[in-house]
Amino acid sequence: MAARYFSRESKPYVYLAISSTPLAHMFVFCLLIGAALAVPSNWCGNKASTSEHRETIQALRVAETAGISPLSQGVNSNSTINVPVYITAVVNTTNSEEMLSETVLKSQFDVLSDRFAPYNITFMLKSTNRMVDDNNSKGFDYNGWNSFKAAQRKGDYGTLNLFYVTNMDDQTWGSGSCTLPGDTSGGPLVTMLDGCTMNAYTVPGGVSGGKTYKGEITVHEVGHWFSLLHTFDGDNCTGPGDYIDDTPQEATWELNVCPVGRDSCPDQPGLDPITNYMDYAGEG
Ligand SMILES: *[C@@H]1O[C@H](CO)[C@@H](O)[C@H](O)[C@H]1NC(C)=O
Ligand SMILES: *[C@@H]1O[C@H](CO)[C@@H](O)[C@H](O)[C@H]1NC(C)=O
Ligand SMILES: *[C@@H]1O[C@H](CO)[C@@H](O)[C@H](O)[C@H]1NC(C)=O
Ligand SMILES: *[C@@H]1O[C@H](CO)[C@@H](O)[C@H](O)[C@H]1NC(C)=O
Ligand SMILES: *[C@@H]1O[C@H](CO)[C@@H](O)[C@H](O)[C@H]1NC(C)=O
Repeated sequence: MAARYFSRESKPYVYLAISSTPLAHMFVFCLLIGAALAVPSNWCGNKASTSEHRETIQALRVAETAGISPLSQGVNSNSTINVPVYITAVVNTTNSEEMLSETVLKSQFDVLSDRFAPYNITFMLKSTNRMVDDNNSKGFDYNGWNSFKAAQRKGDYGTLNLFYVTNMDDQTWGSGSCTLPGDTSGGPLVTMLDGCTMNAYTVPGGVSGGKTYKGEITVHEVGHWFSLLHTFDGDNCTGPGDYIDDTPQEATWELNVCPVGRDSCPDQPGLDPITNYMDYAGEG
């Protein structure tokens, strides 16, 4: 069955239907990254999803399984999604020569577009903004980051804003994180703070801890922006997992490796989904 996409409060929710293929990267990619084993300091900094978010995706899952129109769930369904994208890159004055080039930002955008294309999700690069700013190059480490983000953010809730910063502490924040779709009825703050903040080294050709990145971190993070959870969500074999029926249960994750044949839930069908972008194997 084809993947279905829904928008709610003008924000696209991706819900890959029962029997659909989850966002999966090529196996060969996993092997390549596995060979480049790495720093334990990069993981996804996404916060746990809210109960509201879980209830929404659970409702979509139930409706899909029952063959009920998503319209009854208060969502519109579209066969394709085209998402406008704004990219902001920030470096500090000491490292201003490390400013990500327009070429690199475009190649990151191309990686993102390429990986989502099979699912009829396309992206439109609206503009890039490259800045030198000692405070904001720290991303979430800077107290004023949310105000900066709110001031810089462009478009509506269905617009993707990607921020790349050079000096965010990845021991605290991981390689990046995005906001999950939420209930915007709470006020404008939800929209103002919506978006993704990544460490700049995660772009194609970026280097950290001796490892060269391919831009796949952004693919993982944007999966969250579209509402996807980690494949190991719930950290056990019996919970709802990522709420997607054809994702094999996965109890635990391994970072930056390619654990072929790994089966953390041997009593459940399928091996661990190590080639799924929402796992931590491969680039994470
Ligand atoms: C869904 O389709 C409608 C009608 O074509 C369009 O106006 C709307 O922007 C689309 N929504 C998304 C999220 O792509
Ligand atoms: C810029 O970041 C580097 C670390 O990447 C740091 O050594 C330097 O002190 C920072 N400069 C300023 C002005 O904050
Ligand atoms: C993408 O769109 C094409 C053309 O409408 C359709 O045949 C295909 O099934 C869609 N793919 C997915 C994953 O929905
Ligand atoms: C940078 O951050 C410091 C400490 O939070 C603050 O005192 C200073 O005013 C900020 N500078 C700018 C240009 O925002
Ligand atoms: C498994 O995960 C679900 C959802 O996260 C939770 O409700 C349940 O208590 C967990 N079970 C165990 C045995 O940890």
